[in-house]
Amino acid sequence: MYVVKTPRHILLSTVICIVSYFRVTSKMLKWSIARYFGTKGRYEEVNAYLIDDILAINNSLVTLPSSKCSEIHLTVIIRHGTRYPTIKNIQKMREFYNLVVRDATSNLNCLSEIKSQWKMWYTDDMDGRLVDKGREDHRHLAQRLIKWFPSLLTEENHRCVNSTIAFREGLMEGLRIEGNCERFVKEVENNKSALQEVKGFNEGPEMKRVMEKMADRLEVPYASITDDSVEAGFFLCAYEFAIQELNSPWCQLFDEVDAQVMEYAGDLKQYWKRSYGHEINSKSIVTQINSDGIVSEAVTVQVGHAETLLPLLTLLDLFKDDIPLSSTNFATQHNRIFRSGKIVPYAANLLVVLYKCPEGIRMGVRLNEKSLTLPGLTDPVPMYEDVKKRYRALLEGCDQETVCKINNS
Ligand SMILES: *[C@@H]1O[C@H](CO)[C@@H](O)[C@H](O)[C@H]1NC(C)=O
Ligand SMILES: *[C@@H]1O[C@H](CO)[C@@H](O)[C@H](O)[C@H]1NC(C)=O
Ligand SMILES: *[C@@H]1O[C@H](CO)[C@@H](O)[C@H](O)[C@H]1NC(C)=O
Repeated sequence: MYVVKTPRHILLSTVICIVSYFRVTSKMLKWSIARYFGTKGRYEEVNAYLIDDILAINNSLVTLPSSKCSEIHLTVIIRHGTRYPTIKNIQKMREFYNLVVRDATSNLNCLSEIKSQWKMWYTDDMDGRLVDKGREDHRHLAQRLIKWFPSLLTEENHRCVNSTIAFREGLMEGLRIEGNCERFVKEVENNKSALQEVKGFNEGPEMKRVMEKMADRLEVPYASITDDSVEAGFFLCAYEFAIQELNSPWCQLFDEVDAQVMEYAGDLKQYWKRSYGHEINSKSIVTQINSDGIVSEAVTVQVGHAETLLPLLTLLDLFKDDIPLSSTNFATQHNRIFRSGKIVPYAANLLVVLYKCPEGIRMGVRLNEKSLTLPGLTDPVPMYEDVKKRYRALLEGCDQETVCKINNS
């Protein structure tokens, strides 16, 4: 195997520092509501060619340096695969299901299907656990990575890559990574006003319209449908699709505009809790990923959550709209680039590839197996030195203790 010590260590420390800071066989969903599922979206939604062949790699989405260059190091940062809902969401889903079965009177087809055939099969003990599809998401990704990087992921370390991904997945399952950064906890996590834009949107005219349309469809009083009910209904639709690949009757309760509103509500939450909304969001991930993810001399694997991948992308200034997402600008944010379904679906992954070229070391970045050009750099595979210059402030400011400490003044 090709091992170049220095760049690996440079890269590793960069990434650690940054990180430190840092098959649908069933019928397709109509007008693909699936693209609005946000962080509950399936990976195939961002790479539709995988629907036909889950092990396919698509070279037209990737920019490579000249053929005189060779890959020398790969860092992989992965979001977990498909999971069951959390207990809190399961309870909301059950409540909405009970309401629909008890009170809804309309004669929609989907309603009779929900009442007569659909079972509330989610149980509290599922609480956020990984589903089989989630394990498969990662196993398939590992196999595609082997195809992408045959010289780095040689025969002898295939097993190692697979098992490391599986191991880290297992590790993450028992671990809720929260509360490491005191300042983040105080200023955002435990601070209701930090998410006031989300609340404002959930109480605003667009969400109200979704609630009214839902009440009309079910023929129940407006007062019995809350923003929690429509959220629960949308979750039911999303989870049935993510976990069982079913076009469930719950999805029929939403039209496309409703789905866009639900997507925006989810994106707002990600924006204000994990991304550009508050500066501490991205800086707080310092302690969330440890740095021992070394699989071999040539490959580094990290499995994280949307909770780590999104702050990391935020630190890199990626997917940043000129105008912040707010409770009142749903209409003008129609073409926003901050779309969590595109950025952090299940099994989302960030690949950082180092190449040894005659002119020096170059770096390529791929999100979800598509090349990205880092903001502020024009070359899609820039010189590594230029990347370091571009993110100097970030690299120098990588001091978690200072960032996370609360100033008691
Ligand atoms: C690769 O991706 C492009 C762009 O999404 C798509 O048009 C093309 O069909 C894909 N190629 C294959 C072989 O799937
Ligand atoms: C590991 O990856 C290889 C692909 O090279 C695959 O054939 C194998 O089934 C995977 N092993 C496990 C345990 O997932
Ligand atoms: C809570 O969030 C608001 C809005 O971002 C901010 O002004 C306030 O300082 C925060 N409160 C604490 C205790 O950090």
